[in-house]
Amino acid sequence: MPTILHVVGARPNFMKAAPVYFAFREHPSVRQVLVHTGQHYDRKMSDVFFDELGLPEPDHNLGVGSGSHAVQTAEIMVRFEQVVRKENPDVVIVYGDVNSTIAAAMVAAKLGIRVAHVEAGLRSRDLTMPEEINRILTDRITDWFFTPSSDGDDNLRAEGVAADRIFMVGNCMIDTLVRLLDRAKRPALPGLAERYALVTLHRPSNVDEPVMLTKIMKALENISTDLQVVFPIHPRTRQRLGGTRWGSPDAWGRLLLCEPLGYLDFLGLQKNAQLVLTDSGGIQEETTFLRIPCLTLRENTERPVTCEIGTNQLIGRDMDRAQHEVGRILRGETRRGEVPPLWDGKSGERIAQILMEKLVGLECAAGN
Ligand code: UD1
Repeated sequence: MPTILHVVGARPNFMKAAPVYFAFREHPSVRQVLVHTGQHYDRKMSDVFFDELGLPEPDHNLGVGSGSHAVQTAEIMVRFEQVVRKENPDVVIVYGDVNSTIAAAMVAAKLGIRVAHVEAGLRSRDLTMPEEINRILTDRITDWFFTPSSDGDDNLRAEGVAADRIFMVGNCMIDTLVRLLDRAKRPALPGLAERYALVTLHRPSNVDEPVMLTKIMKALENISTDLQVVFPIHPRTRQRLGGTRWGSPDAWGRLLLCEPLGYLDFLGLQKNAQLVLTDSGGIQEETTFLRIPCLTLRENTERPVTCEIGTNQLIGRDMDRAQHEVGRILRGETRRGEVPPLWDGKSGERIAQILMEKLVGLECAAGN
């Protein structure tokens, strides 16, 4: 009986792992082990997603919590190695580009266990982003690459990965969105207007520098004179806002700031928004699928398909331009975009199918 070990740690991992986990349930010959590193640990950053997505309790929670990149990555490695030795999986599946992804991939590869990477091949070419380092390094030691879009295949081939190890399967995060979209309603947020812009910010490049954070908050205040601005605040951003005048609710004015939301509430907000302003990776993809205009407050993206055929626009850190583009969107001057190929809710099934074939192939080779 093959053993598949999934590793999740931070909020965006959960939506990607759920469809793969569920698809393997259709293969009764498989034993699945779910490991949560504990990189995210607050109920609103973790447990609520397990509940809403229907994921079971993890078999192992490593409880690593927060820390510097080195501390967090090292803690995950030390604790994960013990789990891998105990469970002896045939393949370790890692998701996305967070510290848990690279930490688990390194442990598995060094123990001689095959690594499958879901959301492989994405590149921003910006090494100031910790996620870009995680992506590149994870893909150096991955055996089977599952890409969400053809740019991922191109990047991997250009880096010398053999074509027969790359599988374009579509977008697992969109699988979860497709499954739960009907259940996602406008949340009952006190004061929520009929029309609003939805904002999320958590990238260190935007929120860790007080000058940049202040510039963004002032621009959001300007936008809120025309359109309500709803802003569920990531814990990192909340800490940073504490050092500014927006640390106190008295200063929020027409900005609707709230705690991080669960998956269904956030999806309900996204699908009913006039537009979204974000620096998240996943939200660039979700808005493309939902055909909601998205302004991304970053200089680059590892998800170019969302700009080329979706609804996403890179705004950089130019907040005058952001305000100008908000005006264009409200006047209906932007395009609706298209949904990229294979973003159809079936990516998890494709991954399970391909990995089953690979594992059976390995068993046969070992038996011969
Ligand atoms: C991490 C990922 C990022 C992803 C994001 C999604 C890395 C390098 N970064 O960034 O790619 O887009 O998750 O949210 O892996 N905190 C809490 N409660 C929690 C988790 C974090 O209060 O449950 C606070 C802690 O003070 C922590 C800070 O948020 O120091 C940052 O958390 P961390 O996991 O280091 O990075 P994120 O900014 O969340």
